Amino acid sequence: MVENPFILRPYLSKDLFCDREKELAELLSYIENGRNITLISPRRLGKTGLIFRAFEELRTNYDNYDTYYVDISSTSSLDSFIKLLAESIAGNLKKSPLKRFLSLLGGIRPLISYNTITGAPEIIFTFRSEDEKRTTLKILLEYLENGARKAVLAIDEFQQIREYDGFNMEATLRTYIQNMHNVCFIFCGSKKHVMIDMFSNAKKPFYESTTSLPLGKLDPGIYAAFIKKQFANRNKQIDDDIVRFIINWTKDHTFYTQSLCNEVFRIGKGIITMQTTLDAIQNLLVSNLDRFLEIKRLVSDGQWKLLHAIACEGKVSQPTSASFIRKYGLTSGSSVLKTLNSLIDKELVLADTNLAGTSYSVYNVFLSRYLEILQ
Ligand SMILES: Nc1ncnc2c1ncn2[C@@H]1O[C@H](COP(=O)(O)OP(=O)(O)O)[C@@H](O)[C@H]1O
Ligand SMILES: [Mg+2]
Repeated sequence: MVENPFILRPYLSKDLFCDREKELAELLSYIENGRNITLISPRRLGKTGLIFRAFEELRTNYDNYDTYYVDISSTSSLDSFIKLLAESIAGNLKKSPLKRFLSLLGGIRPLISYNTITGAPEIIFTFRSEDEKRTTLKILLEYLENGARKAVLAIDEFQQIREYDGFNMEATLRTYIQNMHNVCFIFCGSKKHVMIDMFSNAKKPFYESTTSLPLGKLDPGIYAAFIKKQFANRNKQIDDDIVRFIINWTKDHTFYTQSLCNEVFRIGKGIITMQTTLDAIQNLLVSNLDRFLEIKRLVSDGQWKLLHAIACEGKVSQPTSASFIRKYGLTSGSSVLKTLNSLIDKELVLADTNLAGTSYSVYNVFLSRYLEILQ
């Protein structure tokens, strides 16, 4: 069986990863030059993939870096942060260094076991006080700082630390991190306004402590050549027009483009036709239908109406203009603004700000395309 080259998890291997050469070179250069980095982009464009791509490079072509990754999107407290960080460190260690690492944590008496399927270490801490948590965090960071090799620690979905209950994680982390020289931090996040507030607001602990690496969409020309090659290498032929259509239909948003390519690859035989591509789109929309209906159920009629209007336009830069309001039978500029903000909050609408101003689009590309064909 030929494996589908369009993977839907963050990263597998270099040959299934398209481009990002410039971002990769920058990221590696910042790491080599001892900078901490913020990596920001909307969800599903390829931040996590780029981190793993860089880690692979550090492991294969550099000999003095250890790499650590934690995705804190599901954490809500310092406890769970500590657990993930300790597990990430333990996962990198062989027998005797692991013993040494655990002995450093001896006072806290962690329980370690191994996942029966993945073999990854799982650590349970039982803290007796808040102080003990802080001490443990310090021990973990010091362990990285005092290592014989340099460490790169990527904290994914970093904006989540703002949600930690009754604890100023931002200030605590910053205090420890500012004195560290052996560890390079990559703070990765998809909530742009929160990340910008953390790193560009003079009143916040992390103010100007990092170099920012913004991640945009893949170059459509390079992506098209990549897609074509993946098909060709596995004895399937796809025309430039169809590849362009796929990238355009998925708005060059990596996850959605990968998903459609995955489905086209799955059902297409030999020569890929336009009909195969339309069938693949139909399959994807049908399989997402329940999700779309659930969103409809969870938002108000007004929010759904505005979402529909934005989807029909593709991109809206003047949501309060009379012509937009008239065209879609919306009520007033002020109510549109209020509804728009709640949709942004729910991450159903993406606000994209650049020098030209702000434009709004439906965050989930499949939902956007579904709304477009809905009357
Ligand atoms: N450069 C790339 N080439 C091919 N696929 C990619 C690339 N970057 C990301 N992807 C794919 O896109 C999807 C989303 O990427 P991910 O890194 O998880 O996004 P993010 O972390 O920004 O939410 C994943 O399925 C991943 O495999
Ligand atoms: Mg990610």
